[in-house]
Amino acid sequence: MAEVRKIAVLGAGNIGGTLAQRVAEADLAREVVLIDIVDGLPQGKALDIQESAPILGFSCRVSGSTSLDALAGADIVVETAGLARKPGMSRSDLLGKNAEILRGHARAVREQAPGAVVLVVTNPVDVMAYWFRRVSGLPAQRVFGESGTLDTARFRWFVAEALGVAPRDVVGFVLGTHGDTMVPVLSLTSVNGVPVPKLLAEAELRAIVDRTRAGGAEIVNLLKSGSAYYAPSASQAELLRAVVHDEHRLLSVTTALDGPYGYRDLYLGVPARIGRGGVESVYEVDLTPGERAALDASAAAVKADLALLAALPAP
Ligand code: 2OP
Repeated sequence: MAEVRKIAVLGAGNIGGTLAQRVAEADLAREVVLIDIVDGLPQGKALDIQESAPILGFSCRVSGSTSLDALAGADIVVETAGLARKPGMSRSDLLGKNAEILRGHARAVREQAPGAVVLVVTNPVDVMAYWFRRVSGLPAQRVFGESGTLDTARFRWFVAEALGVAPRDVVGFVLGTHGDTMVPVLSLTSVNGVPVPKLLAEAELRAIVDRTRAGGAEIVNLLKSGSAYYAPSASQAELLRAVVHDEHRLLSVTTALDGPYGYRDLYLGVPARIGRGGVESVYEVDLTPGERAALDASAAAVKADLALLAALPAP
């Protein structure tokens, strides 16, 4: 298993900066490089993180650059660049501008780091992961997106808070798109095996599902400028750990589907086994008829957004 020596993070905003910090502090690679077009931003954040090494004891080298050449030889690339939502915007409103930003990055990854595993974070993430894979030409299993891991963390927290149990004891999945039609799967949610639908009243469960679906917007509305980054970067670090240490974790990610669940030619959040090569396999889980219908609606929403890509110049 090839060691992960270098992780490149595209975009040195709040998510990119916080993720670089988490990567360095956990020594997930020998080197992490932050890349951004705003001169001084990636270099400044990188130096700031690096200067905490003597106190925190990590060995990871942290650097910043404005050049895409800094991608050279990266084993993992995390794409965080692009515009974030403002209050009132949906993730889909970002599609055209972010697709143009990712076009250049995907080409650069193809040139500079063709063997990399790519984690896409930029919204609307299901569409951006699809687009990144198409432009880069990388194998589908090596390009996937963070979506359900974050939504599942929010969902687990809301359940834990309602029940007064340790957050880590709540397990479950949020599937589908990282958008308003995401599907928190109650039939797979438990507190260490005790089914949550037996522990909470219907109305409480409904409120938790609704709050999870609006979880990103809740933070956007509170911050008023910018979107969430602590929980997102924690969920990205969880995915990177699974790749770096070849953990074979079963996590909800947006990944290429050509057959599973009956879907074709789209990226959608489903349970997948994540290891050093990226997405090792997709799990088809049993869903109730209602959950299955909700997943179909979610897939249709992503398909509608994917159709908007057709208006852009070809990759
Ligand atoms: C969120 O849900 C940024 O899309 C991300 O907070």
